[in-house]
Amino acid sequence: MLTNELRSQIQKLMARYPEPRSAVMPALHLVQRELGWLPDEAIQDIADVIGMSKTEVNSVAMFYTMYAREPRGKHTIMFCTDLPCALNGADEMLEHLEHKLGCKAGQTSPDGKITLQEAKCLGGCHRAPVMLVDGVEHVENLTLDKLDKIIEQLRNT
Ligand code: FES
Repeated sequence: MLTNELRSQIQKLMARYPEPRSAVMPALHLVQRELGWLPDEAIQDIADVIGMSKTEVNSVAMFYTMYAREPRGKHTIMFCTDLPCALNGADEMLEHLEHKLGCKAGQTSPDGKITLQEAKCLGGCHRAPVMLVDGVEHVENLTLDKLDKIIEQLRNT
């Protein structure tokens, strides 16, 4: 399933580490960025290139919520519900998001645009509540108004 280009990029990643299997996480990121998620065939191909078993690679992909083992929407929202965020209204905001998107956490909105995931601490507790958009954009000090504006932007892109 992986193109020769992707295989070659994984091999370059492996060359950066004393132990080639240490490249498994960056390899998963690389493939997910290319395919949007990590289907079984991709997990097998990564395992073959790196020299690990499929089960080992799958265990890493299943352990971390940043890896998607199922197809996702065009955008992803990882919404923190850990204690500091919860104390600042995260539960109420998550409910608001679910209502707005028409799906529960762990699901994708019916229009296929946005996947909503509940997350543990995203490292911004001092500016709680926090969410991570598309794996790169940290949005802090969330309010319901801020959430509405972000959802509107994501729906239009
Ligand atoms: S608890 Fe939410 S960012 Fe740390």
